[in-house]
Formats: sequence, structure tokens, C-alpha cells
Amino acid sequence: DKKSVCELVDKSYGRCRMTGTFIDEFYTEFLGCSPLVAEKFKNTDMEQQKRLLDQGIRHLILFFHEPSAITATKMTDLGESHAKSGLDIGPELYELWLSALVNTVAENDPKFDAELDAAWREVANHGISVMLSMHDD
Ligand code: HEM
Repeated sequence: DKKSVCELVDKSYGRCRMTGTFIDEFYTEFLGCSPLVAEKFKNTDMEQQKRLLDQGIRHLILFFHEPSAITATKMTDLGESHAKSGLDIGPELYELWLSALVNTVAENDPKFDAELDAAWREVANHGISVMLSMHDD
């Protein structure tokens, strides 16, 4: 059920963070996967962006766990900054993001398996669908 999906992902992220290299490896994978992604980050301070990603992932987990007004507002704020009028992040880039995320989890979490793969996708897609729903507004 929903509670166990959330718990699985939360614990998995804890194991990933313990390796100390998760966020670095995510960005190596994500920036390397397509020139379209690298182009979006060409002027970005990546050290700051790495801290923001950790918060972003924690927020995705929280939003899945507890869809309250507060967690939803933060999700729509993120959707707004990534929308066409702003960073302009389209659906194909979110697919690359999710692949890079799951691949990096697989490399960092020793307990990674098919169940965790599905759980991570479910949690991330819940927030991504909110962000994408605002892309063209
Ligand atoms: C900025 C999270 C997906 C590219 C940010 C920020 C956060 C964040 C927290 C900083 C605050 C803000 O600007 O609103 C997330 C989460 C994602 C996601 C949680 C997925 C669920 C993506 C994707 C791309 C992307 C798919 C595609 C390349 C960027 C860029 C910035 C940014 C270019 C601005 C960097 C700068 O300041 O130079 N993201 N993001 N994001 N994100 Fe995302």
C-alpha cells in the first residue's frame, strides 16, 4: 500500500545518502545522458544545485507521504519555475531525470530490487505529474 511504498523509498534514500556520493553520481549521470540536459545547466552553480536536489528528492517523498496544502504548494511552486515560461523543462527531460535517478539509486542502494524500482517511480511520478501539469500554463 501507499504507506509501505513511502517507507521503502524513504529507507532506500537513507541508504543512498550514506554512501556520500549519491548526489554527485546523479549529476554525472544526468548531465552525461543528453546534451539537452547539459545545456539547461550550463550557467548553474552545481554545488548549490546539489543541495537543492537533496531537498527536491526529500520533498517528492514528503508530497507522496502527505498531500497537504503545504506540500502541494511547494510542488506547484517547483512546477511554476520549471514551466515553459521559466526553465522550460518538458516531459522528455523528466523521463531522463527519472532514469538517472533510478539508475543512481540502483548503484548506491545495496538492497535495490524490482520492488524498490517500482516504488521510486511511483513516488517520483506523483510529484512529476504535478510539475508537468503546469508546463504549458
Ligand atoms: C532548479 C528540483 C526536474 C532542471 C531546481 C530547483 C529545485 C529543483 C528544488 C531549485 C529551485 C527552483 O528553481 O525552483 C527538481 C525536481 C525535479 C526537477 C524535484 C523532478 C521531480 C528537473 C529536470 C530538469 C531540471 C527534469 C531538466 C534539465 C533545472 C534547472 C534549474 C532547476 C536548469 C535551475 C538551475 C539554476 O539555477 O541555474 N530544480 N527539478 N529540473 N532545475 Fe529542477
